[in-house]
Amino acid sequence: MSTDWPKHDMSFLAGSRLRRTRQAGWSRDMVRETQLLPRDLIWPLFVIEGSNERTAIKTMPGVERLSIDLMVEAAKAARDAGIPALAIFPNTPDHLRAEDGAEAYNPDNLMCRVLSAIKSAVPDIGLIADVALDEYSSDGQDGLVRDGEILNDETVAAMVKSALVQARAGADIIAPSDMMDGRVAGIREALDGEGFEHVQIMAYSAKYASCFYGPFREAVGSGSRLKGDKRTYQMDYANTDEALREIEQDIAEGADSVMIKPGLPYLDIIRRAKDAFNIPIYAYQVSGEYAMIEMAGAAGAINRDAAVLESLWSFKRAGANGILTYYALEMARKLSH
Ligand code: PBG
Repeated sequence: MSTDWPKHDMSFLAGSRLRRTRQAGWSRDMVRETQLLPRDLIWPLFVIEGSNERTAIKTMPGVERLSIDLMVEAAKAARDAGIPALAIFPNTPDHLRAEDGAEAYNPDNLMCRVLSAIKSAVPDIGLIADVALDEYSSDGQDGLVRDGEILNDETVAAMVKSALVQARAGADIIAPSDMMDGRVAGIREALDGEGFEHVQIMAYSAKYASCFYGPFREAVGSGSRLKGDKRTYQMDYANTDEALREIEQDIAEGADSVMIKPGLPYLDIIRRAKDAFNIPIYAYQVSGEYAMIEMAGAAGAINRDAAVLESLWSFKRAGANGILTYYALEMARKLSH
């Protein structure tokens, strides 16, 4: 009964119909503009003390903190799935957290031990080491604190020491996530001074003061310590020109690649950065984004698997060269089939 509905006169289209190429799967494949591949995915992992230990993270269902031996297994699985690099974050035992964050530059800290364990067992995967003090300090801030002020230059001095112990332990890429001014230059100079000219720096250049980091802070154990916020160093989410200045400055200081973070709410920044700079740009699909997809999926509000794919693809479309994502292993395995 619906076969004889009247047609509108479409002669004004002059032959152009965009639905034509969408009619068959092969054709949609043929005109697809962007790709999502295992090599686009970087896997963030949380390390804990112990052996054969895995602990759940309540706000990140499906993600676990792993002891060093299990991290090595995870690294093998990642390499086998075609993931190029891991981004590693330590959950430092409470008794080692202090005001000065000195555990950050203890050459035998958890971070250094996991870096060297993975480097010797799985030498062909890249190791990205986070540098910031929140994973080691007693107050959960990324920098040193004096009378409530986050100190810049003193923090850079501590971070430089932290980067050096990580490089000696086998880090391939140092990733400062603290947003102090001048830290890329400080780390570059120190690395070169010790013969680590080939150790890269991936700068968390445009890192916004965001509510989407909540679950991560549970994962590394800094959340309950944190008083106040990080707005004197992380960026105001109202700004976009400022993100370009941050990136420009990090490139001038010697960054090899830059990151924009969080991901999905900041796709506009990724696109502007891609258009403005000739440098690899990474997006971080952060913990809160992961939690939203998992929880909305579990509640039946969205199709979880479809949301994972669509969200990751949007980063590639926006211009990201790669994505840090907690879905990396699952998706690398799916994408290679
Ligand atoms: C801190 C750091 C954070 C993340 C990566 N490095 C949290 C913060 O700045 O408070 C967030 C990652 C995520 O939410 O997945 N140095």
